[in-house]
Amino acid sequence: MNDQGSISNLLNEDRHFAPDPAFTVQAVAQPGIYEEAQADRLAFWAKQAKELHWHKPFNHVLDWNDAPFARWFYDGQLNVAFNCLDRHVIEGRGDRVAIHFEGEPGDTRSYTYSQLTSEVKKAANVLASLGIGQGDRVAIYLPMIPEAAIAMLAVARLGAVHSVVFGGFSAEALHTRIEDAEAKLVITADGGFRRGAASALKPAVDEALAGGKCPSVTNVLVVQRTGQETAWNPELDLWWHDEMAKASQEHEAQGFDAENPLFILYTSGTTGKPKGILHTSGGYLTQVAYTHKNVFDLHADTDVYWCTADVGWITGHSYVVYGPLANGATQVIYEGTPDSPHAGRWWEIIEKYGVSIFYTAPTAIRSFMKQGREIPDKFNLKSLRVLGSVGEPINPEAWMWYRDVIGGGKCPIVDTWWQTETGAIMISPLPGLTTLTPGSAQLALPGINMAVVNDDGRELENGHGGYLVITEPWPSMLRGIWRNPDRYKEGYWSRFPSRYFAGDGAKLDHEGNLWVLGRVDDVLNVSGHRLSTAEIESALVSHEWVAEAAVVGATDELTGQSPVAFVILRTDQIEAAGDDKNINTVLRNWVAKEIGPIAKPRQIMVVPELPKTRSGKIMRRLLRDVAEQREVGDTTTLADVGVMSLITSKLATGASD
Ligand code: PRX
Repeated sequence: MNDQGSISNLLNEDRHFAPDPAFTVQAVAQPGIYEEAQADRLAFWAKQAKELHWHKPFNHVLDWNDAPFARWFYDGQLNVAFNCLDRHVIEGRGDRVAIHFEGEPGDTRSYTYSQLTSEVKKAANVLASLGIGQGDRVAIYLPMIPEAAIAMLAVARLGAVHSVVFGGFSAEALHTRIEDAEAKLVITADGGFRRGAASALKPAVDEALAGGKCPSVTNVLVVQRTGQETAWNPELDLWWHDEMAKASQEHEAQGFDAENPLFILYTSGTTGKPKGILHTSGGYLTQVAYTHKNVFDLHADTDVYWCTADVGWITGHSYVVYGPLANGATQVIYEGTPDSPHAGRWWEIIEKYGVSIFYTAPTAIRSFMKQGREIPDKFNLKSLRVLGSVGEPINPEAWMWYRDVIGGGKCPIVDTWWQTETGAIMISPLPGLTTLTPGSAQLALPGINMAVVNDDGRELENGHGGYLVITEPWPSMLRGIWRNPDRYKEGYWSRFPSRYFAGDGAKLDHEGNLWVLGRVDDVLNVSGHRLSTAEIESALVSHEWVAEAAVVGATDELTGQSPVAFVILRTDQIEAAGDDKNINTVLRNWVAKEIGPIAKPRQIMVVPELPKTRSGKIMRRLLRDVAEQREVGDTTTLADVGVMSLITSKLATGASD
């Protein structure tokens, strides 16, 4: 799906869906919005920012003098949590439901904006009593329960910085993230419900902190979700409910500088060490609120919105917590997996809450497609009116299925391209305005300037493919990598000077629509989640059997890509390692333990050598050919041209599982 050949075929996509005039009339995004943004980009962004509540209004829109370090709305002050909560209550929307929570076992809770505001005020008081103040880092390691949003907002309310770590990450991954950010507090839960069972989280926190490994941590606040037995360290641990019961409901939100850090979110780059992407307050909130309203055509008083992402990823930050709540939306939060306790659980939730805007990932759509339309057809999905897609390219076949089967042939689909680093959506159709082309993310949003360039950085015309770049700073852009300004400059701004290089390849079709082809660096995209080949390789070589490892992303029908590993065993460990089957089991589980189950290679191939260039760089292209069972491509730049035949003959004789 990601290779150039098939994308060229996609560019011949001749299905187009013009907007329904009835939709256009009521749409948030009105004709003229592109022209308005183009005429005066900074004035356009200032107008969007003024939709927020500012404790102190800003006079300056952008400071780009110290590029690539941007400052947006920098002389203004605001409180992010106040914008997501108190403001709605003050303006008379306190009785509107903010969150309908659906637990996996079927338990439910709803919070109005008034109730959510009180909870966040209490939580802010709890955190303050534990010594958290402006600039302190708080690690959040929770399942998809309302407390995750409450904890994030409480941290934001105090001007502190959260670092949410996805609950599926291992103790080791959690440890590195806590250590790098020097978090003072960890907020976790005893566990969460997954596939009908209580799945523990707290033991991973205990392991991450064991033996004083993270001296910055002074407390662990534990939400009781499952009631499972939980080991307790009286020196550090406190129950969330005990502390909340003692806390006052009064808390006045203070304004913080627009550039006050809001969160760090770790993501995979091309090295073995995850990078802490840093986002700040005013610009971030401006762009997430603006995109959430315009891209999803949000009518906050009538819509019910559901984004299926976990808060552990950027989509959960921007389009579960900050965007929807800043806009006063009513949304659904679901704790569990799509297939628990039955394959129609998601569709049942849409019917139950009358969800009208639904945002999910192509992998999920493809897996439903595989199960057949009989399952969604059993539910009433007529409330749906806008469908969104994020995280990976959506193939036209899945796009059509999504439109026909889930959207009843009438809902516009917004394929949204963006990244952890961009903070908010950058490329997407606007429902009601854009004529949709299945499989394309289409156009940069009003206010966003992007281009496709060739190797020399020259802008390409329609009908050509190259590298995707962002040519002007944008409000929700990352402000850097936590404590690593050089990696920020080098990683994003050096390949094409003065332009941000996204790491993705893209093509422009003949109508000027953008088709994102996928990563051109050593970053994998598995089910819309980012993993680095180097991170998995370093996990593999930390196992005593492994001398060298190379990981590639092989095309996968369901998940877009999946990791395939090639390993060379240490000679003195060959006997201990046993047969290929055993090696596969042990090393795959090892990676799951080191990073998390999503990083588990689909297959481990034991090889005698790895193909390298004369300068020692692994030629992943050739390994990808092997992993995808294609004929191996051009090997002339290999230091040792015999290596590939050695590998292919070894694999032909001893296949692994
Ligand atoms: O390769 C692009 C892909 O996901 C990468 C960003 O990953 P992450 O930071 O984890 O954020 C995912 C959720 C925003 C991008 O570099 N990607 C994201 N959305 C799309 C996409 N590829 C194609 N089409 C998309 N709509």
